Amino acid sequence: MWLNRRTSPDALDQSGVWRFRELLPHIPEEHAITLREGNTPLYRMPRCGRETGVENLHAKHQGMNPTASFKDTGMTFAASSAHQGGFSWVACASTGNTSASMAAYAARGDMRSLVLIPDGQISWGKLSQSLDYGALTCQLRTDFDGCVRILNELVRQKPVYLLNSVNPYRIEGQKTAAIELMEQLAWEPPDHIIVPGGNLGNSSGIGKALLEMHELQLISRLPKLSIIQAQGANPFYRSVREFGGKKLEPMTADTLATAIRIGNPASWKKALRVLQATGGEVEEVSEVEIAVAKAEIGADGVGCEPASAVTLAGLKKLRRRGFVKPGEAVVLILTGHMLKDPDFTIKFHRGDLFAGSAEETEAGKTKQLQHAPVVLDANLGAVIAALEGAERSSIR
Ligand code: F0G
Repeated sequence: MWLNRRTSPDALDQSGVWRFRELLPHIPEEHAITLREGNTPLYRMPRCGRETGVENLHAKHQGMNPTASFKDTGMTFAASSAHQGGFSWVACASTGNTSASMAAYAARGDMRSLVLIPDGQISWGKLSQSLDYGALTCQLRTDFDGCVRILNELVRQKPVYLLNSVNPYRIEGQKTAAIELMEQLAWEPPDHIIVPGGNLGNSSGIGKALLEMHELQLISRLPKLSIIQAQGANPFYRSVREFGGKKLEPMTADTLATAIRIGNPASWKKALRVLQATGGEVEEVSEVEIAVAKAEIGADGVGCEPASAVTLAGLKKLRRRGFVKPGEAVVLILTGHMLKDPDFTIKFHRGDLFAGSAEETEAGKTKQLQHAPVVLDANLGAVIAALEGAERSSIR
C-alpha cells in the first residue's frame, strides 16, 4: 500500500511522509501542507566503500528533499499541525536548514514565519532560501544556542508556534526517513545506520522509527544507530564518553560544518535512549576529516554539505575501532545537499579552507582530493595541454 501510493495522483500519497500516515499521529487532510517531500534516493557508495573497507555501503540522501535538507520530512508534519492549531505565525531558531524549510512550508500554508539565526554563521545558500520564501529573518549577534534562548522566551509572550525539533510533530515526520529506508532495503535492516548529531532531533526521530518498526515486527532486528559530532561541537560525544550519559555539559561550539555548530543540544536525552536501545556508538571527527570525507562523497558523484560528511568520517573511525566490521551493511544518512554551502567546497578545492588555521599542516593530506579550477587563455591548445596534463597525473 505504502509503495503503491507513490503512483497515485493524490498529493499526500505522493509525499514520502504522508504515504506512511498510518505510522504517524492523525492530522486532518485539510490542514496538510506538502511539497512532496521524502522519497529520497538510496545510493550505493563504491568509492567510499573501498576507502573505508566496507563493501556494502549506501547513503540515503535526505538532501534530495524540496528545500534540500532532511528538515522537510519533519516540517511538513509540524507546519501542518500549526495550521491545524490556527496559528498565523510560526518560528524557529536555526543554523540555516530548519529555517529554510520552515519558511517554505509556512509560505505554502499561508502562514508567516519568523527566523532567528546566528549572524555570520550560516551559509548563503540557506539564508537566501528563507529570504525568498518570505520569512522575517533576524540575524542575531549570538550563536545558535543564544537564538534558542531568545526564541523560548518569545513563545511565552507571543502567539507564535514553535517549529524547532523539540516540537514532537517534527520528530514524527522525521521518522519516515527510517521507514522509507527499510522499504528500500526490502525490510531487511542494515547492521549500522550512521547520522550526524547537532541538536539531536534527527537521531531521535530515526531511532524512534526503528524501535517502533521493530515493535510492529516490520523489521526482525534493530540496526545499530551511531551518532557523529564535529570535534569542535561535541557535547553529546563528551556526555557519553566522559560522563556515561549521566549529564551533558553545554559548550561554546565551533566548526566549519555550521549546520551542527550547536553546544547545547535540546534532544540529547532522547538520542541517548536511542543509542542505548540500538547498541550504537558516538564518535567525534576533526575539521580536516570532515573536509576529506565530504570530497570523497563528492567523488562518488553524490555530494553533500559539510555536516553530512561527518557520517563517512565517523565510519572510518568506527571501522578502525572494530565497531563496524568489513562484511557488515552500513547506511550513512546524508542530511543536506552539496549546494547548501558552495563556499566551503570552493575554498576546499582552492586549498584555502584551512589557510592560516591550526589545521593548516594536517590539511596537507587533502591535496589529493582537491580539484581547483584552472584559468586558461581561450584557445584550443591551452585546453588540450590541460587535458593531457590531467591524463598524465595519477590524481583523479
Ligand atoms: N545535518 C544538517 C545538514 C543539519 O542542518 C543539521 C541540523 C544536522 C545535520 C543535525 O541534525 O540537529 O537533528 O541533530 N540543523 C539544524 C538547523 C539545527 O537549524 O537547521 P540534528
